[in-house]
Formats: sequence, structure tokens, C-alpha cells
Amino acid sequence: MRQIQVGLGDRAYPIVIREGALAGIGEDLRQKTIAKRYAVITDEHVGGLYGGNLLGSMARAGLAAELLTFPRGEASKNLTTVGNLASQLARLGFDRKDGLIALGGGVTGDITGFLAAVYMRGIPFVQVPTTLLAQVDSSVGGKTGVDIPEGKNLVGAFYQPRAVYIDTRALLTLPVAEILNGLAEVIKYGVIYDGAFFELLADRRHDILQRDLGILEEVIARCCTIKAEVVAADEKEADLRRILNFGHTIGHAVEAASGYSLAHGQAVAIGMVAAAELAVASGSFSRPEADRLREVIAAYGLPVTIPGNLEPAVVKSYLKTDKKAVGGRPFFVLPTRIGAVTITDDVAGELIEQVIEKLTGEP
Ligand code: NAD
Ligand code: GLY
Repeated sequence: MRQIQVGLGDRAYPIVIREGALAGIGEDLRQKTIAKRYAVITDEHVGGLYGGNLLGSMARAGLAAELLTFPRGEASKNLTTVGNLASQLARLGFDRKDGLIALGGGVTGDITGFLAAVYMRGIPFVQVPTTLLAQVDSSVGGKTGVDIPEGKNLVGAFYQPRAVYIDTRALLTLPVAEILNGLAEVIKYGVIYDGAFFELLADRRHDILQRDLGILEEVIARCCTIKAEVVAADEKEADLRRILNFGHTIGHAVEAASGYSLAHGQAVAIGMVAAAELAVASGSFSRPEADRLREVIAAYGLPVTIPGNLEPAVVKSYLKTDKKAVGGRPFFVLPTRIGAVTITDDVAGELIEQVIEKLTGEP
């Protein structure tokens, strides 16, 4: 069992990481007295897998809980789902003393966190992430929100959970593609913050891919520690928190250019290689380290080149529409060594073009 604190003053909260954590959530919540009763919000798939376990844990602790579900997938992450769930809460008589539990992946966490932020102008919520991506990234840090037709995550709020419970055992039912989505973000933490962690990921690749729960607990704890430090220093992404976007600038452009047929983790993997190439071309990162980064990403079975069917000009056009671009100018998080990065919006357009072209259709 590991516990990490997100140091946000009177809004500080614990992240508990433990094999089998799900069974103990009810008792822990009873002791914390966060809310009178709870609604467990989950997608239908995760609800079928783990809803019963969580409700059982709540019942054993004598806590009242309802299960509310929605269809799984990003298509549910919208205002209609939030509205439907809010109506259900209102019909059940939920008030400000009641709370929500997000049981599921990043989609569930983002919807539930946003619902908690706006229902009756704010009720408490806790995160119980069940995908690797949600366990190492989206459940920590308080970014909540939904998509609108004009773009992803365009409506939302910074709203911190009261606790995060991570049960590594949930990873055993996760499809391989979802494990890889999370691993791209895991590798990201090593590159931006901790070179020794990056080397651990290289050394223990086999055990990690075999889902050894001991090493996964260590990996998740390291990622959550890094994220907690970054969020505590810059909750609202004024500066430091932007380093978490490493690999996401060109990654998002590639993802959008593919019409979202590329998984997010695959796009981030390509984006990390592209950022490393940009850093080499701008003289801030060494060739051997860029090659090492590419080698480790490829060893995990993640892509390191842009699919040949994507037009470089189309990929580049999506950089301007990136929602984090300021005045049409994208910013880049570039490695200076494995374990440290710098943020810049001063990268020549020709360099970006060269890197996108070089990576497109490479073997
Ligand atoms: P997801 O929530 O859609 O989960 C992926 C799939 O895995 C779903 O079909 C789900 O039903 C299934 N699943 C979940 N847990 C499972 C388990 N233990 N066993 C079997 N199947 C399981 O997607 P995701 O990749 O977890 O999250 C992606 C979302 O997270 C995106 O909407 C993205 O914008 C958001 N996100 C938010 C933040 C943040 O800081 N808030 C950060 C990164 C990503
Ligand atoms: N996933 C990026 C962030 O939380 O800031």
C-alpha cells in the first residue's frame, strides 16, 4: 500500500494505491465523513465489472450508495450525459451533503468531476480510476469537463477530488490497447521529470507488460508523485503544469489528422518522438538521448513514426487549431535531457515541417 498527498492546502487530498483497494473504500469513506450518501457514477461496462464490489464495500461500511450508469466511450462525455445524471441526482433527492464517486476511466472521471463541480454549485467527489491512464493521470489534479461539437474538453472546471483510490487489480481486466494508452503517459513522466524512472521503465518492461501488480504499483506511485508535485506547484496550469503536455502538441495534431483512428496513447508516443526530434534540431537535446527515447517507446509496442497515409501539411494545419495554442502559435515541451524539459513557443515553422515530414512514413 502506498499513499501520496496532493499538497493543496485546505483542499489537500490523499491518493491511496493498493492491490484490492476497492474493497476498503466504504470503510475509509465512513471514517473520512466526506458525505452522507453517495452516487457511484460509472460507464455500463465498468459498472458490470466493479459496480457490485464497490456497492458491497459501501454497504459493509453502512454507507448508502446508488449506482448511476451511462454508455461507455468518449461519445458520452458531453453535456447531455451531465444533464441526465444531474436530473437523476435531483430525483433521488441528492443535496449538498451528498457526494459522488467516479468509478472508471478518464471519461467517467471527467464527467463525474464536472458534475460534482456544478451540481448544487459543488458537492464532494472521490475518484476510483480503473484504467492505467486514469490511475496515472486524469484522476489526479482536478481537471474535469466534457466535450462539445466544437472541440474536446472545451467545457469544464478545475475541481479537486477529496480522495483518489487506485486498485491495481482493476488493470487485470483492461484490454491491452488501454494499457498501452496509459503507458505512453507513464513514459512521458520519466522524460519530463525523472531520468531514473525512465530507466526503470526500460529495465522492467517485461514485468510491466505482463502486469506484475508489484511493479505496476511502484510505477503508478511514481507517476502520481510527479503529478501531485506539479499540480501542487501550479494547479491552474499557468506555467509548470504545461510540462505534462509533453508529446501532446504534435500528438494531438496527428490524432486529429487521423480522424481519431489513432488511439490517444499512440498519438502521444509519436508526439514524444517528434518533440525529441525538434529538440535535437534546435540543439537542446542530444542525438543519443533522442534515439534512446525512441528505442524505449518502440520496445513497448508504441508507434514512433507518423502513419504514411497522413499528409504532413494536414498534420501541420492542426497545430494552429490546438486549443492550447496562443494566437495560433503552438507551444512545445522539449526535452533538454531525459528527465528534464523546457517550454517554448519559439520553434521555427520550417523545423516543425521538417520533423513532421521526416517522421511521416518512416519505417
Ligand atoms: P475511458 O474512460 O473511455 O476508458 C477506456 C475503456 O476502458 C472504456 O471502454 C471503459 O469501459 C473500459 N474500462 C475502464 N476500466 C476498465 C477495466 N478495469 N477493465 C476493463 N475495461 C475497463 O478512457 P480513458 O482512456 O481512461 O480516458 C480517456 C479520457 O480521459 C479522455 O476523455 C481524456 O480527455 C481524459 N483525460 C483527462 C485528463 C484530466 O486531467 N482530467 C487527463 C488525461 C485524459
Ligand atoms: N493531463 C494534463 C494535466 O492534468 O494537466
